[in-house]
Amino acid sequence: MLSRLPRLLRPPLSRSLASFPPPRLFSYDKIVANMSVADAIPAIEDCFIKLAQGQVDVPMPMHIGIPESGAAGPGDCHVKGGHVIGASTWTVKLANVSFYKNPDRGLPPGSGVFIVVCSETGAPLGIFSENRYLTDCRTGAAGGVAFKHCAAPGMDTVGFIGAGAIAKVMARAASCIRPFRGVVYAPDGAEAFKKEMENELSMPFEVVDSAEKLCRKSDVIYTQTPGSKTVLEKKWLKDRVTIIASGSDQPTKQELPTDVMAASTYITDLTNQCVRVGELRSAVKDGSMKESDVYAELGEVVAGMKPSDFSGIVVVDLTGTGAQDAAIGTVAWDKMSKLPE
Ligand SMILES: NC(=O)c1ccc[n+]([C@@H]2O[C@H](COP(=O)([O-])OP(=O)(O)OC[C@H]3O[C@@H](n4cnc5c(N)ncnc54)[C@H](O)[C@@H]3O)[C@@H](O)[C@H]2O)c1
Repeated sequence: MLSRLPRLLRPPLSRSLASFPPPRLFSYDKIVANMSVADAIPAIEDCFIKLAQGQVDVPMPMHIGIPESGAAGPGDCHVKGGHVIGASTWTVKLANVSFYKNPDRGLPPGSGVFIVVCSETGAPLGIFSENRYLTDCRTGAAGGVAFKHCAAPGMDTVGFIGAGAIAKVMARAASCIRPFRGVVYAPDGAEAFKKEMENELSMPFEVVDSAEKLCRKSDVIYTQTPGSKTVLEKKWLKDRVTIIASGSDQPTKQELPTDVMAASTYITDLTNQCVRVGELRSAVKDGSMKESDVYAELGEVVAGMKPSDFSGIVVVDLTGTGAQDAAIGTVAWDKMSKLPE
């Protein structure tokens, strides 16, 4: 039996097989010129439904640490990916962050590529040198889906705590769902955010000088800050509010106080990920919540498997899933592979 094994594994000698062409390389500039948050929203909405139906293979993220030396690091490589069953491609993504010595060389501290692979042949089709752009688009698209399904029409004053790259994609995505009045609070970048978003989206934005003022005005609150200190208090919130939190994507981060979490109808993008790196981690750690207190994953709400006639505080915890990377990878390949080389 053992002696037959090499023949079984090898193709018959008489057949000569062609090799795969090399994957196409897409530059950052070309990706930015051709892809937007709006392109991603329908595919991201669909991937959350498929996630809820068990139709996505999405492994836990892998982390590689690069220790600091005189010339390099410290750095983190995050590997995410997935396959939406039935989709024409799957994706593996490398996101490299926190290389804090790069700016001294005139380079950004982060970079990243999406590798999009053919589901039929297993051949890599495209390498997208997206340096975070596609990740930001798929993150914003999830925020748009959360706004559509977890904040009723009429909840139209929308606050942004944090005014950086993720706040902008959240605002762009929310504007694809319906018009709103924006309010923004951030120690850095709030005025620039207001100006850019008003110009781009043709909707009014107001800058306020505290998170408390923002919370007292807002029906929906997007939080996207990078720290581990909470950014709002329960007593500042309206009776009916939807909070869409995306800042916590690592076990060191937290944006929401655990009493807000415990009082909420709490929705995850992916429960087994949120309990490790999302807002749920802190609430479970201090005993305010158990994993069984999760109301639903977002896809269950989107698919109508769980009712969405919400009252009180709703929290949607977006940690960013490989399912989203897979979905936007397919969109990017379908759209950009038709472009001339
Ligand atoms: N969930 C996901 O899928 C996902 C994807 C990408 C990034 N992220 C995370 O989102 C967070 C924000 O990323 P970014 O690229 O927008 O960062 P950024 O540096 O561009 O912007 C951060 C903003 O937060 C503000 N801020 C900081 N502390 C604050 C506080 N206490 N209160 C109010 N505002 C505060 C800053 O002034 C700034 O405007 C990071 O933690 C990042 O890791 C999450």
